[in-house]
Amino acid sequence: MIEQTLSIIKPDAVERNLVETIKKKFSQEKLKILKSKKIQISKDEAAEFYKIHQTKPFYDRLCNYLSSGPIVVMVLEGENAIKENRRIMGSTNPKEAAEGTIRKLYGISIDKNSVHGSDSTDNAKQEINFFFKIN
Ligand code: CDP
Ligand code: MG
Repeated sequence: MIEQTLSIIKPDAVERNLVETIKKKFSQEKLKILKSKKIQISKDEAAEFYKIHQTKPFYDRLCNYLSSGPIVVMVLEGENAIKENRRIMGSTNPKEAAEGTIRKLYGISIDKNSVHGSDSTDNAKQEINFFFKIN
């Protein structure tokens, strides 16, 4: 099934000029970049985006981090895009990520893990809407 999913290139990767390298990887893996914009969000916006994690011990650190510098938000489209993007990204902890995945190649640590990807159909819809709402 052709799906759309939300991808974010996080501050650590933008800062290291990895945007084009990561975009090329999505294209090579047959995920089309439908929309892309470079933005910086406030801590409140990060808190809203990550509210699913509000009870977690890492929540405050995560929100500070996502709002700490420019990010690139993208809509990716392709066959099984949600699952495919998660596969291409690799495990949350770069140390546990499979060879060749973005997090294995470029992730610095469990928090500075270079990319975000929606984890379900509902969350993909909600997250795309969060960043690309047409007013
Ligand atoms: O990003 P992913 O869906 O793989 O992981 P998550 O469990 O939804 O966690 C969201 C984000 O929180 C991760 O990508 C990490 O940046 C961060 N995190 C963290 O800093 N420390 C943890 N122990 C777990 C997650
Ligand atoms: Mg997640």
